[in-house]
Amino acid sequence: MDMSAFDTLTIAMPKGRIFGEATELLRQAGVPLPADVSEDSRKLTVSAPEAGLSFLLVKPVDVPTYVEHGVADLGVVGKDVLLEEARDVYELLDLGISPCHMAVAGLPDWSPVLHPKVATKYPRIADRYFREQGQQVEVIKLNGSVELAPLIGLADRIVDIVSTGRTLKENGLTELEHITDITSRLIANRASYRLKSGRIQDLYEKLASVVEKGEPV
Ligand code: PRP
Repeated sequence: MDMSAFDTLTIAMPKGRIFGEATELLRQAGVPLPADVSEDSRKLTVSAPEAGLSFLLVKPVDVPTYVEHGVADLGVVGKDVLLEEARDVYELLDLGISPCHMAVAGLPDWSPVLHPKVATKYPRIADRYFREQGQQVEVIKLNGSVELAPLIGLADRIVDIVSTGRTLKENGLTELEHITDITSRLIANRASYRLKSGRIQDLYEKLASVVEKGEPV
């Protein structure tokens, strides 16, 4: 049997805002990422055969999909995406990077209506949150620029990520309710976790010790 597939660990990396911190964390954990693993790169796969590693550079929202289907053994992904995608993967470690939170926001002079419209990139999270609050809302799915919705009358409120708070501020919106804190996580494919347990455990321990030290990445 060709064992090479068992020797290589494939890691799905999210392009975008998490990417820089995630690659730095891996470097600190002694994972030698090739120089061409960069956010600007147009390459979608990069391999480091001497380290037995291969990287997939993908959209953050797709990381759990690659991992669930086993084309990536591991992935780095925000808790927001994990909650929204609800994929069948193991969440191994809170990496503590890219901290932000999920919030309900709206115009400061917003007054309650019976069934408010809520615009969001996260319909599952929004649905669940308002159900738990016992509030009936109409969720409108958008793919970005969610803060525009209350300004032009598409929605009464939004559910979105707040990081620095700048996007809300610059659009005259105010945070109304805090839903949950978000950080990036290390996730694993269920079969890989058994078949490649030694390598995954090794990487997990290296990353966990960097995270424990708590030095800023
Ligand atoms: C995210 C989020 C907010 C913004 C929050 O959007 O959806 O719009 O960042 O960050 P801040 O609090 O630091 O301003 P992203 O940049 O991913 O763009 P998009 O919504 O257009 O996809």
